[in-house]
Amino acid sequence: MQTSNQGSSWMDDSTPPDVVRQRLGLGCARLGSVVGRDQTEALHFIQSAFDRGIRFFDTANIYGQGESERILGSALRGQRKRATIVTKAGQHFPAWMRAVRPFKHVITPLIRRSGAGRYMVSKAREARLPRNFSDRALHASAEASLRRLKTDYVDFFLLHSPSSDLITNGEALGSLEKLREAGKAIKIGISCEDVESGLLALGDSRVDAIELPLWPATAKTERFLNRARRQRVFVIGRGLMSAPPSTSNSDRWSAARAALISSLARGEISRLLIGTTRLAHLNQVLDAVQSAEETSCL
Ligand SMILES: NC(=O)c1ccc[n+]([C@@H]2O[C@H](COP(=O)([O-])OP(=O)(O)OC[C@H]3O[C@@H](n4cnc5c(N)ncnc54)[C@H](OP(=O)(O)O)[C@@H]3O)[C@@H](O)[C@H]2O)c1
Repeated sequence: MQTSNQGSSWMDDSTPPDVVRQRLGLGCARLGSVVGRDQTEALHFIQSAFDRGIRFFDTANIYGQGESERILGSALRGQRKRATIVTKAGQHFPAWMRAVRPFKHVITPLIRRSGAGRYMVSKAREARLPRNFSDRALHASAEASLRRLKTDYVDFFLLHSPSSDLITNGEALGSLEKLREAGKAIKIGISCEDVESGLLALGDSRVDAIELPLWPATAKTERFLNRARRQRVFVIGRGLMSAPPSTSNSDRWSAARAALISSLARGEISRLLIGTTRLAHLNQVLDAVQSAEETSCL
């Protein structure tokens, strides 16, 4: 078990040399997915990302039905102090999915081999999961996440896509405040579905951090970023690779690359998530950042 008195790496004074690269975070939504990498490959992937300088990892209780947090916990064992972990709560799997979870290791190879199985999983992913943002559910979710992550604190604990009503009535954030007071979360906040929700979240002064899709950017995105900077809210941007309309992988990459470099030059985006489980894709991103740093674009 890694403990909270080790502090939170993103607040450390020692500035790493590759500071721009340190502003990238890895989105771990697909880690532990039944149609993704097996556990050994996933562990190796996280360790390779860490070796390449990634220190910020974004996960949630529901990713891979908890497997994403488990893999992160194992991969970062012994490195807890050097890593920053974001996790989220408020969504859960329906009872029938929880019932088949113990058989996941048996079902997974069958799904991987079958086109129909993979199709079913992708359809299931699109379905909206049940929500529960009650005090009891959020505390239970936090405890389960800490167990899976093999730590006694997370750096950021966020509400996972709450509705506008939930953001404005503020009760769920009150539950997160208690977790922060107990030292189980260093910072708390909201992971939003869109910029409108992000603007609502900025209305609550207890919010330390907001995660949200920032691309394609609009006038509202600018308004959000300006207010977040003034209020000193930690902004975790996502949606960079999925946003550009793409006709081919190379088009998608060139559009994303331009957005990536210009976004890293903006201090109000505290962290920028890249969602991948492919080392080749992560390396492509890191190499692009490195060459921009070398040519002083950043
Ligand atoms: N509501 C929420 O809180 C919420 C919602 C969505 C996402 N998230 C978080 O944000 C993270 C990122 O999600 P996102 O929506 O922002 O994803 P994203 O990074 O915009 O896009 C991910 C997609 O881009 C592809 N990709 C990544 N690098 C690439 C490269 N170099 N070249 C070509 N394709 C590349 C990935 O495919 P490959 O896997 O093949 O590389 C994947 O299909 C998630 O993992 C999760 O942690 C949170």
